[in-house]
Amino acid sequence: MLTREENDALCRVGPGTLMGDMVRQYWLPFYLSSELEADGPPVRVRLLGEDLIAFRVTSGEVGLAGQHCPHRGASLFFGRNEEEGLRCVYHGWKFDVAGNCVDMPNEPAESNFKHKIHHTAYPCRERNGVVWTYMGPLVEPPELPHLEWNMVPEAQVYHTIRIADNNFLQPIEGEYDSTHIGFLHQILEPGDPASATEQIYVPRPGASGFLPYLARLDKSPVFETVDTDYGVLIATRRNAPDDSHYWRVYPFLLPFHTLIPPNGYDNPLQGHAWIPMDDEHTICLCFTYHPTRPLSEDEQNGVRLGFDGLEGLHPSKNIFHPPSTRPYGKYWPKLENDNDFMFDYEAQRTNRRYSGLPGIWPQDSGMQQSMGFIYDRTKEHLGVSDSGQIRIRHRMLSAARALRKDGTPPPGVEDPGVFHLRPAEAVLPRSTESWVDATRELYRVEGAVKGLGTPAST
Ligand code: FES
Ligand SMILES: [Fe+2]
Repeated sequence: MLTREENDALCRVGPGTLMGDMVRQYWLPFYLSSELEADGPPVRVRLLGEDLIAFRVTSGEVGLAGQHCPHRGASLFFGRNEEEGLRCVYHGWKFDVAGNCVDMPNEPAESNFKHKIHHTAYPCRERNGVVWTYMGPLVEPPELPHLEWNMVPEAQVYHTIRIADNNFLQPIEGEYDSTHIGFLHQILEPGDPASATEQIYVPRPGASGFLPYLARLDKSPVFETVDTDYGVLIATRRNAPDDSHYWRVYPFLLPFHTLIPPNGYDNPLQGHAWIPMDDEHTICLCFTYHPTRPLSEDEQNGVRLGFDGLEGLHPSKNIFHPPSTRPYGKYWPKLENDNDFMFDYEAQRTNRRYSGLPGIWPQDSGMQQSMGFIYDRTKEHLGVSDSGQIRIRHRMLSAARALRKDGTPPPGVEDPGVFHLRPAEAVLPRSTESWVDATRELYRVEGAVKGLGTPAST
C-alpha cells in the first residue's frame, strides 16, 4: 500500500512533476517511422501531458514541435509541411525541425524579429522503424538506449501501437505480476476442470510445450528481485520435476521498458514500452522479435491476426476505431471500457476462457483499465506475489527523488549499453546458489548471441 503522496509522485508525469522530470531524462520511442511521410500530413502527438505535432520534412528528418504556434497560438496541426519546415497557416510563420523560425512573411522584410523566436522542438532519431524523441534538459542528448528489440533488422521484429485509458504504471505492474498468467490468460477446452494442474497432457522435457507446462504447474511461484544499473531484475521460481526449478527472468528497464520471458525454446521474445501520453493514457508500444532470425510466416500471422479469433499480445489489424485526427488517432482500440472489452460471460461460464475476455491484450488491458485511470494504491492489499511491483515502485521513486534532490542522473541515462538485455528462462537444479549468476549469460547480451532458454535434459 502506498500513501497518497507516493502514489501521486509515481503516477503524475506532466511538466515539473517528480516522475515526469525523471522520464524526460530518457529517450522516448513515440511513433512508427512508416506512419510519417516526407512533406506529408503532420500528426498530433501527446507525450508526458504535452500536446505536440510530428512531421517529416522534405529531406526525411522528423520534427516534433509544440502544438501551438508561438505567434498567437494557432495549431500547427493545420501547418503546411513544405520545403524543410512546417508553416503555420494563420500568418505564414515557418519553423524548421530545430524550432528556428526560418520565415516570417507578415513582418517587414528588414525586421530581425524572426531570429528572436524559438519554438518548442524536441530532437528526434530513428532506428529500425521507430521514431524516438528526447524531451530532457541536455543540449547534447545521450545515445539511444541499446534495446535489442530496436537494434535487430526490421525483418526480425514486429511492432504495434495501441492507446490505453490508464496511467502507465498499471501495465508496468501487470507485466511483472507473473501469477496472473495462471488465471487471467488461461484457455481451457470445454469440459476441462478450471485448474490447469489437472490437465492430463504432460509434455516431455525438451518438447515445445514443456516450459509453458512448468509455468502452469506451479501457480504460486516464489519471487526474487534485485536492483540493477538499468532498473530491476525480477525472477520467478517454480517447482519443477527432477529436483529442479523453473526460473523466469524479467528485466525491468527504466523508465518504462518491459521484457517477457520467451515461454519455450527458440520462441521470439516480446515486451513493451509503456510511454506516458499523460497521467491517464498510455501509448502501448508492443514488440515481438527474434535476436538471430527473421520471424517465420506463422509467427508473423500470429502477431498480426491473433489466435483462434482471439486477440494476441498485439492488437490485430482491424481492432481499431476508424482513424481520427486526435493524438495517435489510428491507435484507439474498439475493445474499451465502454463495451467492457466485449466480455463474454458465457465463454467464462463454460470454461473456454477463464476470464471471458477475448485474448491476451484485452485481458490485461481490461483488468488495468478497470482499476480506474490512476489506481488509488492507498486501497490495495499486496501479498508476496506482488514483490516485483514493490521493488519497481521503490526503484522508480528513489531514482526520481535522487534526480530532484541533487541532480543524480537516473540509471542507464549515461550508459545506454546497460539496456542490452533479454528476458530469459531456465530450468536449474534446486541446488543452484545464485539464479542471477546462473542465468547471466542468457539475459545479458554481450558480443555473440547466446542461445535462447536452457533446454532441459532430455
Ligand atoms: S498564429 Fe501562427 S503565424 Fe500567426
Ligand atoms: Fe498478462
